[in-house]
Parts: sequence; structure tokens; C-alpha cells
Amino acid sequence: MSVTASASAKTILFGEHAVVYNEPAIAIPLSNTRTYAELIPNSNGFRIISPSIHLNKTFDELIPGSGLQVLLIKIKELFDLDNLPDLTLLIHSDIPIASGLGSGAALSAAVIRAFAMYYSQTLSREKINETAYEVEKIYHGTPSGIDNTTIAYEQPIIFSKSTGFCPLEADLRQFSLLIVDSGIRSKTIEVVTAVRENISHNEPYIREIGKLVQNSVPFLQEGNREEIGRLMNENQKLLQMIDVSSPKLDDLIRMGLSHGAIGGKLTGAGRGGNILILARDEEQSKQLRSLYENSGFRVIQ
Ligand code: PMV
Repeated sequence: MSVTASASAKTILFGEHAVVYNEPAIAIPLSNTRTYAELIPNSNGFRIISPSIHLNKTFDELIPGSGLQVLLIKIKELFDLDNLPDLTLLIHSDIPIASGLGSGAALSAAVIRAFAMYYSQTLSREKINETAYEVEKIYHGTPSGIDNTTIAYEQPIIFSKSTGFCPLEADLRQFSLLIVDSGIRSKTIEVVTAVRENISHNEPYIREIGKLVQNSVPFLQEGNREEIGRLMNENQKLLQMIDVSSPKLDDLIRMGLSHGAIGGKLTGAGRGGNILILARDEEQSKQLRSLYENSGFRVIQ
């Protein structure tokens, strides 16, 4: 019998890049934007098919050391398999790749969950998180772990590399956030490496971002939109200082702000990918959505 499992995208509200240097960051799962993994029994060996990226391969045809190959090796270890069974792994995803929304971690979590369903096993979220983190190292080099943690637990979190995560006790529905895809793909590993290469210049800004994240928590808890918008704008300026924004991202943010949004920043590694825009209310959020869509941009949610 076929089984299907899924995992959500995530967005970083505050603290990307600083989180690599042990500062806290805040991330939110995007439950309506997901990757789906279906396992379908067949009679001719294991095969992975992902129509959106034109992938149709056996395990042996995968690039050695690629994220997908490493994920399947981890799956074999996790479920104590000598060989992958006669199954087609069919992948569909709403999450744009290389766009700061955690597509790699979502793929890992969805595939692990699908195998657990197939073998009627209950895997803890810790185990899913741990396994997805191992695969993240392939995509990211030195991942903080924020992507896999947000996605494995699927809840808003405050995360730090050394202390792990705490659930963020705040009603985030009070914030009308739009996520807009610039359409530019950017590899996290390259942006994280560039920040590290210039760390002596970047360090003070990274520490400022850490303080800003801590300051944001009470405002998130009390639903203070004005302050959260102000902190988003401040976080974006600090991200510009460490050179992870781009003229295109800055333009997209300016477009929202000039039409009345309270705050805007990039989300994820930057230099491409998505931006976050905080609207004043739901009415304005609808207007901003039309503005971006009519200009040819995908509004993720
Ligand atoms: O995968 P992305 O693009 O969302 O980037 C994750 C956030 C970074 O802080 C840039 C990297 C990390 O490992 O935390």
C-alpha cells in the first residue's frame, strides 16, 4: 500500500546568520507550504521521481555525496535496511528550492516520515531532527540546525546552537506577514561562507542582531506590530551591513514599505530567495499581495 507524508517550509523572522555564531534566532513553520513524499510499491527496484526538478533515478544513479544520496543512506541506517526496497519515492513540493525557506530540511523530514509510515514505526521528533541535521550538513556546510529543528517540531521557536530550542509562546496570527519570492536562487553554503570570510568586519553586526532577537520576544508576545516592524527594518539594515542582501531584495522590500507596510526584511541566507513583509492589518496584506503578484512575484503565503 502507498503511504504519503509531508513536512512544512520555515521562515526566519529574526536572527539569520547570527545564529551560526551562537546568537539566538526566531523561526516559524509555514504549515501551508509543504513538501510531500509518497512511497509507492513497485516490482522493479527503488526509484526516486521528482517531476518538478525532472529527476527520475535509481539510488545508484544519484550523485555520490549529494543531499538525496546521503538522506537515503541515513534512511537505510535508521530502518536497518541492507537495500532499499522495491518502491518509487515520488516527491512533490510547494517550497521553492535555494530560497531560504528550508526546502532541504523539509525534503529530509518528509522522506523520513514516509519511511516510518511505510514500516509502521513511530519515530520521535528528536530522531527526525537529528537525521535531517546530518543531511543539512551537505546543503549548508556548517548549519546552525535552525531549519531542521523548526521543521521537525513544526512550531515557532527561539533557537540557539548551544542551548537548543524553546517553543515561542506567542500568537503570531496577530501579525499579517507576507512571504514574497524574489525568484532569485541563492545557495546558503555560499552566503554563509562569504560572511565567515569577512568575519572581523561582520562580528559587531552579528552581535547587534543577537541583541535585537532578544528584544523582539516581548513585542511578539504582546502582539506589538509597530515594534516588530521597526525591528524587522533594523534587522534588514544589519543584514545589509554583513552584505547578504541584494539590490533586488532591497527593491522588493522598499516596494512594500512605500505602500504602507510596517516592516520588511530578507529571510534565510539572503542574496536571493524570499523577503518578509509585515502589513498593518489583513486588509493591507491583501492589497500588498496583489501589488506583488501583479508585478510578477509569487507570494508564498
Ligand atoms: O537555509 P536558509 O537559507 O534558510 O539559511 C538558514 C539560515 C542561516 O542562518 C543563514 C544558516 C544557518 O545554518 O542557520
